[in-house]
Amino acid sequence: MRSSDIRSTFLDFFQERDHHVVPSSPLIPSDPTLLLANAGMNQFKPYFLGEAVPEHPRAMSVQKCARTSDIENVGRTTRHATFFEMLGNFSFGDYFKQEAISWAWELFTRNYNLDPERLWVTVYLDDDEAEQLWRGVGVPSERIQRLGMEDNYWSMGIPGPCGPSSELHYDRGPAFGREGGPAVDGERYQELWNLVFMQNLRGEGSGKDGYSIVGELPSRNIDTGLGLDRLAAILQDVETLSETDLLAPTLRLVQEMAGREYPGRDGSEASVSFRVVSEHARSIAFLIADGVLPARDGRGYVLRRLMRRAIRHARRLTIAEPVLAPLTSSVIDTLAGAWPELERQSELIRRVVTAEEEGFERTLRQGSRLLDSAISRAESTLSGQTAFELHDTYGFPIDLTLDAARSAGLTVDVEAFGDLLEEQRRQTHRAGQNRKGDAVARQDLYRRIVADHGLTDFVGYDTTSTETRLVALLDDTGTVQRAREGDEIEMVLSRSPFYAEAGGQVGDTGTVRTSDGLLRVMDTRPGLDGLHVHTVHVVEGEIGPGQEAEALVDEDRRAATARSHSATHVLHAMLRRVLGDHAAQRGSRVEPGRLRFDFAHFSAVAPSDLETIQTLVNTYLLDDPDVRVWEASRTEAEKAGAIALFGEKYGTDVRIVDIGDASRELCGGIHVGHGSQAGPVHILGESSIGTGLRRIEALTGADALRHYDHQRDLLTQLAGLLNVRPDEAPERLRQRLETLAEAQRELDSLREAELDSHARRLATSAESLPGGRLVAQIVDVPDLRPLASRTLTHLRGNAVVVLGSRSSSKAALVAAVSDTTVQARTLLTGAAAEVGGGAGGKGPLASAGGRRPERLEKAITLAATEARHLLDSDDPPHII
Ligand code: SER
Repeated sequence: MRSSDIRSTFLDFFQERDHHVVPSSPLIPSDPTLLLANAGMNQFKPYFLGEAVPEHPRAMSVQKCARTSDIENVGRTTRHATFFEMLGNFSFGDYFKQEAISWAWELFTRNYNLDPERLWVTVYLDDDEAEQLWRGVGVPSERIQRLGMEDNYWSMGIPGPCGPSSELHYDRGPAFGREGGPAVDGERYQELWNLVFMQNLRGEGSGKDGYSIVGELPSRNIDTGLGLDRLAAILQDVETLSETDLLAPTLRLVQEMAGREYPGRDGSEASVSFRVVSEHARSIAFLIADGVLPARDGRGYVLRRLMRRAIRHARRLTIAEPVLAPLTSSVIDTLAGAWPELERQSELIRRVVTAEEEGFERTLRQGSRLLDSAISRAESTLSGQTAFELHDTYGFPIDLTLDAARSAGLTVDVEAFGDLLEEQRRQTHRAGQNRKGDAVARQDLYRRIVADHGLTDFVGYDTTSTETRLVALLDDTGTVQRAREGDEIEMVLSRSPFYAEAGGQVGDTGTVRTSDGLLRVMDTRPGLDGLHVHTVHVVEGEIGPGQEAEALVDEDRRAATARSHSATHVLHAMLRRVLGDHAAQRGSRVEPGRLRFDFAHFSAVAPSDLETIQTLVNTYLLDDPDVRVWEASRTEAEKAGAIALFGEKYGTDVRIVDIGDASRELCGGIHVGHGSQAGPVHILGESSIGTGLRRIEALTGADALRHYDHQRDLLTQLAGLLNVRPDEAPERLRQRLETLAEAQRELDSLREAELDSHARRLATSAESLPGGRLVAQIVDVPDLRPLASRTLTHLRGNAVVVLGSRSSSKAALVAAVSDTTVQARTLLTGAAAEVGGGAGGKGPLASAGGRRPERLEKAITLAATEARHLLDSDDPPHII
């Protein structure tokens, strides 16, 4: 079963069970407590915590995940990866253990046809219920094992949602390890699918003893994660992840570049390197495609480390040429069908990896120099400090230091090196904890502000200006009592007309005035649900909490944003009208004058359909439909047919926006008062953003008009150049292009005739020598090579042609020989030196150039003399 079939089987199975497909979130998560997306549930955390209500209680996804905690195991085991796709089904307070377990069993044994006899199950220590359910579907008790916190209790590694889990394992047989089930051998009994019964709230603490459970989640949820690569390895009957169809083409390329076969899982270091290189290439491509760039810390460091490891393992396989660009390009070819962002970002990926690989080579050269000088100074041991400095400051890998020291008969103080490394790890870990801690602490700070002052009284639906009071000011360290001219801080107001970014609509900007301060509001976003946090720049004066103020939204920007939002709703309605109800919204970005709309659809939208959709949207808006905003209970709204969007936060009372009678959506955003204010809408284009997902981008209002003006300008210019009226321009251009093509053909044949007659003339002037004929002349043509080659054909038999030409500042020479075993370059060595340059070229055609045109005659004479040596006897010696 190909991996694309594994994905679609999963999606079909859960779609039939009423799950909404949700696109993978990017590898850079929006959750500030996370470095990289590492599980399908990341994007659903607010639903589990009860901070938001999902539109649909069941979801499924194919999530891009990056995990580097096990990086040392990659390539050494059959199953570890730094990037993988996780298939998941989720229930938000809807179904629970029973369905999760019976569906997992059904999908595995019926749809994926896994042999039930080889499946093992683990459950959490006290989870009798799960054990009963597994037995109910037919798993015998001897293949059910109970494990503790470390194995069968899942959390994100930080405070947040968590719960007992139950895992499905597949017995790969004795070739992979010891008997005794997953409790004994994780390599033989490979974990495939983790079913988490999300029901608790994790507190602080970590490590083997587990962490504290500090409460229950508002509802009982399901979060499952099935590793696509691992399942593919089993269904495709290959030993390791690198041999599945997800990575096999890249592994093949590594073999080609290394000029040797992948030895299979033979336990050799080379076999590990093959797998590391191919696996890392995939992670590298995906990370860059999602916007990660190499850096000294954070995500950028994860990427840099992967790149350096891949390069080093490639060098171990004796691949000397650059590897990252060709390998990531193979990843793109293999996986862009499922992940089109790879194709869209292919140029960026190529540039980033090429620059990084060049940089790393420089680092290695520089490190080698330092190492050489340290070695020459050392007596018998290289200090741990030196090895560490090389590693830390220059990124010079320790194993290279060890190799070099060994060759020089020295040892390295590995223990001291290890201590320094460990100390650094501890520091980095602390910094990481702090970063996570920072985000969590920030949320706590916002919670305290809400506790003291309540939520923001948002008045922006009715007005764009209001009297208000400064409630809190925050800088990076926490709340502050003062901010002065030039400061950039966060600010909370008692009442705010500024819309906080949500539902795809960007946050408002504007100004806030106090009695002696002027603030520029650069962005507004929700710190917590209902708490508007304004990012402000203090333009004038000094401000502090408690001060009265006047807040003013940038009205033009707000109006242009409202236009885009209403246009988005109408576009959604018309898309569904033309393409069908499946074309539902999956995401959107609403900006002043511009919108981006993502929706479910299986193929590209035909240009004619796109045009119909655009016409329908504009005609509908021109009819000036009423925009009506009303509130109702969620149930009433659903009964009234309002469309709710996945990923949005809705409470039990919801806000509904009607635009005429064709569009009714649950929406917290800002809209125009009347439909006609939203137009015109101009669709810029449509593209794929993932399996079954498309994106439309469009301009609205004044931006659409400016676009039309620009287009018209271009047409006018074009018509002006062609000297016709705009409506005649296309036909006239077609005629002109035809005439031009005809003229080009004529020109080509004239050039060809001229070249040929010139070559004939040169051939007739050839000098006859015992070993063949020689032409050596200065000519006046810009391109010497074709003339030299043609002259050679007219000479027939053994011959040498040397031609030279010059401009005011340069001389050029070409040598062509009929004997294909001769290196023509050697004829030009002296001539090149004469004109002050070098000679290049392989085999029977070579060229040379230099900046001394005045010496061309002499140079030609030198080359001719060389040629004469060559042609002096009937049996010319070959110059190789
Ligand atoms: N969150 C769990 C995991 O990542 C199940 O999806 O394993």
